[in-house]
Amino acid sequence: MSRSKPTTRVGAALKIASQDQLHLDWSYQGLKPDELQAFAAKRLPADFDKLRAQLIKGEFHNLTQQRTVSHVLSRSRHNVVKAGNGRNRFNEIVRLLRSGNWQGATGKVIKDVVNIGVGGSDLGPMMGSFALREFADDSSLHNLKVHFVSSMDGGQLHAVLPIVDPETTLFVICSKSFTTADTFANVDTVMEWVEPALTHEQWLEKHVIGVSANNQAMADFGIPPAQQLSFADSVGGRFSLWSSVGLAIALTIGSHQFSVMLAGAAAMDDHFLSEPLENNIPLLLALTGLYNREERGINNLAVLPYDGRLRYLPNYLQQLDMESNGKQANYRGEPIDYPTGPIIWGGFGPNGQHAFFQHLHQGFDAFAADFVAVLHRKAPGFAPAVQDALREQQRLAVANALAHRRLMWTGSDPATDGMQEGEATHHYVGNHPSNLLFVDELNPRSFGALIAAYEHKVFTQGVVWQINSFDQPGVELGKKIATRIHEVIDGDREEQFDDSTDAIIRRML
Ligand code: F6P
Repeated sequence: MSRSKPTTRVGAALKIASQDQLHLDWSYQGLKPDELQAFAAKRLPADFDKLRAQLIKGEFHNLTQQRTVSHVLSRSRHNVVKAGNGRNRFNEIVRLLRSGNWQGATGKVIKDVVNIGVGGSDLGPMMGSFALREFADDSSLHNLKVHFVSSMDGGQLHAVLPIVDPETTLFVICSKSFTTADTFANVDTVMEWVEPALTHEQWLEKHVIGVSANNQAMADFGIPPAQQLSFADSVGGRFSLWSSVGLAIALTIGSHQFSVMLAGAAAMDDHFLSEPLENNIPLLLALTGLYNREERGINNLAVLPYDGRLRYLPNYLQQLDMESNGKQANYRGEPIDYPTGPIIWGGFGPNGQHAFFQHLHQGFDAFAADFVAVLHRKAPGFAPAVQDALREQQRLAVANALAHRRLMWTGSDPATDGMQEGEATHHYVGNHPSNLLFVDELNPRSFGALIAAYEHKVFTQGVVWQINSFDQPGVELGKKIATRIHEVIDGDREEQFDDSTDAIIRRML
């Protein structure tokens, strides 16, 4: 296997784009600014500015599903006013639960909340709650614990149920469609578990909140109107953490900090709309990614956060990017023969160094990488010596991010990398392009900006590839086949599939 040689080397030209909170160093992409400009002129469609403006105004058309795309409105300043009652209900629920003023049906205060959802109804809320929990605006309040259950097999539920009490636990049933089999398999088990502590009516009355775009289904399920949090159908599941789907984040950090996160994302919307290419972070992410995919034939992107609070970022971006842009048909439904979105994978960088990085440095496979680093850490609430120690750990992590990204790009240089004689015979070929995304501090505002930047990257690449980034027909077809197989396993249907599938079904029967 051969890989093309880089066109630029380290130190040749520092290239950093900056926004209010987020910065992107793309020096290790091996592209000169004029090369990138020429590539942009070649690949961005003539009406890109118009399409981008439509997205920001909530007027972009999802043609295969005949609706607009409106996730940006969930965080726009203008729309917070429009959201009116919905936002008030959301804030009131957050206030009652976080202040210990929500009593369950038997009069006991709710202490645990379990978010049941999957895909966009799990990954965004889970990632945000985990990343931002130290920023709770009133952490001295009642100590509410938030748990996440997504897996259809019940493994996660099996771990959570023994540590919570039906009388003091509230379940958020989070599902855009309110029909997802995974989610309702977990809900069915929970309904068995709450009895005999609570009747079904008691459970519905005080222990369930519905979050969905399907109001009728929430009502049919029996969720009281005051506990239904709806959002627009035009908000895609994987773009929904800004809507009421973000309830678990708000329960973790409070409504005020949740709105700071929305403001951080809105600031990135403004940046994407107005900054010129050379300083436009989402556009640079999109174009360097397109270049790596199309000109260098690199089929994957490793997402490598160097801050433990961002450890769920790779999982989140997997859905955001792969479910949006892993397509072989254009938005008119015609087959296409050019490559679209790459495989997104990755993991927490510092631990990856002790696992898969060896292959990255010296294996035969081409990859691109996004390093994500937080330069400084404040640790209020700890003794000064512990604060210093934590700050030092942050420096250690950043140093490691810088070292590994440098080695991945330059390969080894025995003269300057302090290699001993024997080591110089090892091959560190380098030539792996990477981005370094960094913030001075991780907080709700910078987190919002980071996630919104990736959303706009995905949008831009989808426009260039002429695909609809807002549907997921492949997954839908998989769900339909799973339903048929499940019916055969349950004895409700007779059908044969193929020798292998039929043999496993027979074993189960
Ligand atoms: O995986 C398919 C999908 O529809 C995702 O797009 C979505 O985030 C997930 O399932 C969960 O869907 P829902 O929120 O409707 O339960």
